[in-house]
Amino acid sequence: MRSQQHRLHHPSSHKHQHFRLERWHRRALYALVAGLTGSGMAWLIAHFFLRQAGEFGETVHPWEHPAMQLHGALVMLSLFLIGALLPLHIRRAHRAGCNRASGWSMIAVLGSLTLSGYALYYLASEASRPFWSGAHWLIGLALPVLLWLHILLGRKATQVF
Ligand code: HEM
Ligand code: HEM
Repeated sequence: MRSQQHRLHHPSSHKHQHFRLERWHRRALYALVAGLTGSGMAWLIAHFFLRQAGEFGETVHPWEHPAMQLHGALVMLSLFLIGALLPLHIRRAHRAGCNRASGWSMIAVLGSLTLSGYALYYLASEASRPFWSGAHWLIGLALPVLLWLHILLGRKATQVF
C-alpha cells in the first residue's frame, strides 16, 4: 500500500503527463525565446557595432526600430504563451516538487525582464536609460541558457525513477 502510494505521488507516474507541455505550446515557447533573443541581439549589433557618425553626431541604425517592433510584438505574444503555463505546467510541477529551483529561476528572470522592459518604456529618463538597458539585455542574454538548463534538469528529474 505504501509503495503504491509512493508511486502514485511520484512525478514520474501519472502526474508527469500533466505538466509536460503539449507539442504546440513547447514549440511556440522555443520560437518565442529564440525570437526575443534574436530581435534583442539584432538591436545590440545595430546599436553598438553598426552605428555610423552622421552630420549631427551618431545616427540611429535603420535596423534598430524594426528589431524593437518585432521584440514588442513578441512580448505581447509572451503574455499569452507564458500565462498559459501557470495552471498547467507551473502549479502542477511545483506541487509535485519537481524542478522547483530552475523553475523559480525562470520566473525570476522573466519577471526581471518584464520590470526592466517596462522601465525602458515608461520610467527611464535620459540619465537612467543606459542602466535599464544594460540590466535588461544582460538578463535577456541569460534567458535562453537558463531555459536550456531548466529543460535539461526537468527532464532528468522526471526520469530518475
Ligand atoms: C519576456 C521577456 C522580455 C520582455 C518582457 C522584454 C521587454 C522589452 C521592452 C518592453 C523593451 C523596450 C522596447 C523599446 O524600447 O522599444 C525591450 C527592449 C530590449 N530588449 Fe527585451 N524583453 C524580453 C526579452 C529580451 C531578451 C531575451 C533579450 C536578449 C538579448 C532582450 C533584449 C532587449 C534589447 C537589446 C532591447 C533594447 C534596449 C534599449 O532600447 O536600450 N529582451 N525589451
Ligand atoms: C516554478 C516553476 C516551474 C516548475 C516547477 C517547472 C518544472 C518543470 C519540469 C518538472 C519540467 C520537465 C517536464 C518533463 O520532462 O516532463 C519542465 C520542463 C519545461 N519547462 Fe518548466 N517549470 C517551471 C516554470 C517554467 C517557466 C516559467 C517556463 C517558461 C518558458 C517553463 C518552460 C518549460 C519548458 C519549455 C519545458 C520543456 C517541456 C517539455 O519537455 O515538454 N517552465 N519544467
